[in-house]
Amino acid sequence: MFTESFKYYKSKNPPPSFESVINFDGVNDSIFVRRTVVNNSDERFRHIGLTDPIHWQIFESPSGLIFIKNPFTAQGQRYWIARCLSDYPKSPHANNLHSKSISLSVVDDWWKELNSTETKAEKERLRTALRWCTLGYHHQWDTKIYSEDKKHEFPSDLASLSGYIANVLNFGKYSAEAAIINFYPIGSTLSAHTDHSEQNLDAPLFSFSFGQSAIFLIGGTTKDIKPMAMLLQSGDIVVMSQESRLCYHAVPRVFKSDLSTWNLEEKDEDDDYREVTRKRRRVSQQSDHINTELWDLVLNKDFWQPFNEYVDNCRINANVRQVLREGQNTL
Ligand code: SIN
Repeated sequence: MFTESFKYYKSKNPPPSFESVINFDGVNDSIFVRRTVVNNSDERFRHIGLTDPIHWQIFESPSGLIFIKNPFTAQGQRYWIARCLSDYPKSPHANNLHSKSISLSVVDDWWKELNSTETKAEKERLRTALRWCTLGYHHQWDTKIYSEDKKHEFPSDLASLSGYIANVLNFGKYSAEAAIINFYPIGSTLSAHTDHSEQNLDAPLFSFSFGQSAIFLIGGTTKDIKPMAMLLQSGDIVVMSQESRLCYHAVPRVFKSDLSTWNLEEKDEDDDYREVTRKRRRVSQQSDHINTELWDLVLNKDFWQPFNEYVDNCRINANVRQVLREGQNTL
């Protein structure tokens, strides 16, 4: 059942109908019910690129699958896109480029090499060569077993973002310890799999989408169950918790969107207010480990341009997991 749906949504000729795809922007007659955040006293959303959770559109299925419609500000999206492209793939984090016949300098700092490449064809080759990088406990694609000696420090800003969302959704304390960042050129896919390497399978998995759009399929704990198809757009967050945490899921289609919400203008604050909040924001951002220099730079047109070019052609997905159980310090 899963395989048939995957083939259906992947097909180029004939292209699939999107009629059965759940689009949370439209009328929602799916199994999802709306959840609201009634009051929120945690103001950190302002400093990590999110809007106030009381305005979030949150949908939850009976199996514990949660969808949050893009809760990011445009600057927030830009910040996280820039981190995913220019920092997370860098050494010592692991990436797929080792397995390609590509020079070591590209493996070590793909973004820098991509942007210093002159020829169009070589740029395109490098742009599409990066397909994943792993953070924290590095995912082992063959054995699916984490190990203490294949681990690096998890980026603390991404841990703050995941911890904040876990708190808003009442999951309690969350410790982000492993992540896979997937890079999808338009037309690429990710086949059906479950995520079961973590010793803690009670903690939710957070999945952040940026850039171009995708069809996301999620079914049951075997491939015999017909999956539902959901539209994922830039900024959307999927949370896999409870039963859905161990369900088969896949991305059969990544396609060009007519939206680029990361480029929307945000409401301007008046100058005095902006100056006061800027100072306060810096202090708070430092405690959430946000790179304040990058935070400001992403609003600069020239700095942003290469990132814009990337997300205009590709999709990024960051999925974050807690590996250890509460009270456990090592594997
Ligand atoms: C994954 O499940 O590993 C990625 C899902 C996505 O790209 O949305």
